[in-house]
Amino acid sequence: MGKVYVAGSINMDVVATTTRYPRLGETVPGKAVVFLPGGKGANQAVAAARLGAQTALIGRLGRDSFGADLRTFLAGQRVDLQHVQESENAPTGVAMITIADRDNAIVVVAGANAEVGLADIGGPVLRPGDVLVSQLEIPPQTIAAFFARGRSSGARTILNPAPAIEIDRGLFALADLVILNETELATFAHRPLQEEASLAEIAGAARALRTHVDQVICVTIGKRGALALVGAETFCLAAGEVEVVDTTGAGDCFTGAVAAELARGRPIRDALQFANIAASICVQRMGAGPSMPSLEEVTTAQGRQI
Ligand code: RIB
Repeated sequence: MGKVYVAGSINMDVVATTTRYPRLGETVPGKAVVFLPGGKGANQAVAAARLGAQTALIGRLGRDSFGADLRTFLAGQRVDLQHVQESENAPTGVAMITIADRDNAIVVVAGANAEVGLADIGGPVLRPGDVLVSQLEIPPQTIAAFFARGRSSGARTILNPAPAIEIDRGLFALADLVILNETELATFAHRPLQEEASLAEIAGAARALRTHVDQVICVTIGKRGALALVGAETFCLAAGEVEVVDTTGAGDCFTGAVAAELARGRPIRDALQFANIAASICVQRMGAGPSMPSLEEVTTAQGRQI
């Protein structure tokens, strides 16, 4: 069984719920505010750990109370934190999240996440069978070095290119598997995908993104489930009918679940199916980190589907 290494962001999510988004210059009353563990890297690590994989997180926190709270939370999820350093001066990353009508809008202030560098990713001893995961909330050159190390050690690499920022296309070539949503796909494939774009259009854009033939591309498409290119095959995963409470972290749940499955040697198609079910459980709860499901919850839901 391989180990999952996630190099990525750790944020405190400041989540305000309201009935509708304010227009520019407008103030609207909020219903509630909560402080919840988040950050795409931390969320993915929590998902993989709760789903039974030995998981280590590589990242940075500030020397502040958010940093201390996040460390306590992550340790409680059995995420190995020996590669999580404290930055001297930068504060812990913060995401300001507004939730209205079950959708979200997020502003992220990177803080210590912007300082995750080559020294941070150089620590772990990587082995064949390990699965490396990253997103775009830490510097892209750090991710490139992390993935290059992983590939030369025989590990597999998963890139979740979120949020969709300007990056060198060479980073995609270092990924064995790319997991992204429709908006990110439109940006990186340079295809103007409309809302509710057809599956054929999404598949075409995914093909345009692919850098090598054996690269797997998986596009998460919200309540329509997911579409994946695996070798010459394109296949769709339907999303179950569930009561959506909060979609924050659903993509992170999907990515962490795929990593956990691959680390225990499951075939990619099975891993994607498992992840689709995990994400459908995640959206039924509030928050990102705390809403990741356990292995038992996913296997029980899988049993119900058979
Ligand atoms: O993907 C969701 C995450 O994005 C949130 O937890 C927030 O911290 C931002 O990084």
